[in-house]
Amino acid sequence: EVAELGHYPHFMIKEITETSEAVRTVAAMPGSVFAPAAERLATADIAFCGAGSSHYVCMLGQYFFHQIAGRRAMCHSADEFMNLASLGDNGALIAVSQSGETYDTLRVMEQAQADGAALVAVNNVAGSTAQRMSDFPILQRAGREVCVLSTKSVISQTAIVWRLAAEVAARAGGAEGADMADLNALAAQLDVLVQSLSPEIKAVAERYRWIEHWFFLGRGIHWPVAAESALKFKEVSYIHAEAMPAGFLKHGTISLIDEKFFTVAFIPNAAHDPESFAHVVSSLHEIRARGGNIIGFGHDLPSVFADGFFEAYVELPSVSKFMDPMIQLVAGELFAYHCAVKLGRNIDRPRALAKAVTVR
Ligand code: AGP
Repeated sequence: EVAELGHYPHFMIKEITETSEAVRTVAAMPGSVFAPAAERLATADIAFCGAGSSHYVCMLGQYFFHQIAGRRAMCHSADEFMNLASLGDNGALIAVSQSGETYDTLRVMEQAQADGAALVAVNNVAGSTAQRMSDFPILQRAGREVCVLSTKSVISQTAIVWRLAAEVAARAGGAEGADMADLNALAAQLDVLVQSLSPEIKAVAERYRWIEHWFFLGRGIHWPVAAESALKFKEVSYIHAEAMPAGFLKHGTISLIDEKFFTVAFIPNAAHDPESFAHVVSSLHEIRARGGNIIGFGHDLPSVFADGFFEAYVELPSVSKFMDPMIQLVAGELFAYHCAVKLGRNIDRPRALAKAVTVR
């Protein structure tokens, strides 16, 4: 492993840097990788399942299928799936798992298979149990991920799920928001983010690493981004962060806000989604009105925010609407990484965590 690390201090940052390559790999996959699964999904009752970060990829998939393909998809975390849902013989389960060995996910796959549903598996490990048992195995080919935290594999899974949504949409005669060139444009901007903006994100993370309580907020396709980013931040920094949809805040948790409370906001591009943008703006104003502090990740913010509104703001590279969650996810990964490095955490093997949870 030491040799593989090269000049990087940790596998986590090495693997974050490799994300753009993982995206290019997905962009270069021929349509035939996705077509058989898409053919089945086109007429099936669709469900997603995954655990931890892979669950949040599934949540993104749920938005992609709805917004790109006009298809409703169920999505439950693998550990709760069977308490909530079952699939019949017209079902198709999209099971997402980096390792392909996660106990909870494999149990859901087994049950779905027994019920006659088709299995689509998205995995990074060739020959894994999930790949072998599925009807439509899709291999991520993101390269080995050594760090316990999923980084490049999460983005690669997201790109694959987006391609599946695009293939399903194409079968229904439309695929707005599914231009294949977008993935290559994303890869180029990921390089810009990791190479040029990492120092800026590092400075913010170092300045605020002592904050003990955080909200991570997003809306629409940025809500799974907030959820995954908070998970990553907690895993590696050991600091408490609570993720929620921006619109949920006013239903209770806003009472936590005071001048000691910090929020990370994943702000959608106003040009892509003016409605979500307006909702997020309103939530952030409510936080500021109560003395809360905000770190914003966004693009071309219109002048709805006064100078000094943000404690810190990072302008992210602009990409198309459905690529933006992937840019924002990597910004969140960099924030978690730099914060944890400064705190002296065990970056590649955080306490109590294993790369794959293969037991009940
Ligand atoms: C990710 O950073 C975590 N270590 C964890 O949530 C992980 O995503 C989860 O255990 C699922 O693993 P899998 O993708 O291999 O199934």
